[in-house]
Amino acid sequence: MAEAFDEIKVAFVCLEESVQAVAATIHDSGEVPERYIRPEIDADPVIADAGSYTLPTIDMSRLINPEFSQEELAKLGSACEHWGFFQLVNHGVDQVLSQQIKADVSEFFSLPLEEKSAVAIPPNGMQGFGHHFVFSKEQKLDWVDLLFLATRPVEERSLDFWPKKPCTFRETLHKYTTELANVTELLFRFMAEDLGVDHEALLGTFKGLPQSVRINYYPPCRQADKVLGLSPHTDGIGMTLLLHVNDVQGLQIRKDGEWFSVQALPGALVVNIGDVLEIITNGKYKSIEHQAVINPEKERITIAAFHSVHLPCTIGPLQELGDPRYKAIDGFEYTKGYFAAKLEGRRYLESLKL
Ligand code: OGA
Ligand code: NI
Repeated sequence: MAEAFDEIKVAFVCLEESVQAVAATIHDSGEVPERYIRPEIDADPVIADAGSYTLPTIDMSRLINPEFSQEELAKLGSACEHWGFFQLVNHGVDQVLSQQIKADVSEFFSLPLEEKSAVAIPPNGMQGFGHHFVFSKEQKLDWVDLLFLATRPVEERSLDFWPKKPCTFRETLHKYTTELANVTELLFRFMAEDLGVDHEALLGTFKGLPQSVRINYYPPCRQADKVLGLSPHTDGIGMTLLLHVNDVQGLQIRKDGEWFSVQALPGALVVNIGDVLEIITNGKYKSIEHQAVINPEKERITIAAFHSVHLPCTIGPLQELGDPRYKAIDGFEYTKGYFAAKLEGRRYLESLKL
């Protein structure tokens, strides 16, 4: 993936502004700068109340236990087909390590801006601390700061962008992302089983488990109902595993045309299917639009780990899954196209349908 970023040369506008710093400046007035105000929010359909839907929960300890595996596998398949999202519990990621990554990430974002800027995203770069998806000086901005790093393949990391503070950060991120890659590989195996496809055909596409992380810091905002943490989007990769660093909720997914708030269970990983897996599964698994909203009083921090295809490759539906319903496309072209579509929901994915 790191090499893909070099190849892609995304035309991002460099934004030398930290939302956390903006939030601190307007603390007294509470008045959000125009660039962050989203008039479209009110126009969106009402959010379904949390009681009417429950995001499926998948238990990894049952998946790997022969006694319960078939039953849990059916739940996994159903979640991927009907929701594109599920919560993964008993996933096996070491709890001490989870605590450590949460502590290190929180500490990084609490550093003064000058220190975070040591790993700032350079102009037209992708990795480091800053903003993504800023394509013009006029566009509306998401209420979020992020730290984006390519974590796998390990030998392609750009350590210059890996914070040195706190001093445990690099080692903790290495260990955490390694464990997540293992969880992802297991999930891909179970998905191949559910789909009835050759395991190697599916796993081969994700060989070496290329991975990147986007660590999202959403400052609180008194006008929370006027800003968006992350605009509606689908993830342009295979699969995402999201960890809530603190207990503040804000993730919403679009289900049956309405926004639905996800209540993440403590310790769970929220897993979602990305566009690439929708294509590979010929539409059987769904990549669902999601967004992040802001809490008026509390900061919110999440770690999204994205698992991508092994480049170079061609992304297209697996033959075993019937007549192709999506175009097959070169992996680099796909990635360029995803960014060029400026994160407009499912638009790019829809354009690849036959
Ligand atoms: C993402 C994402 C949601 C969240 O980083 O792609 O959708 O709740 N994050 O932080
Ligand atoms: Ni996302």
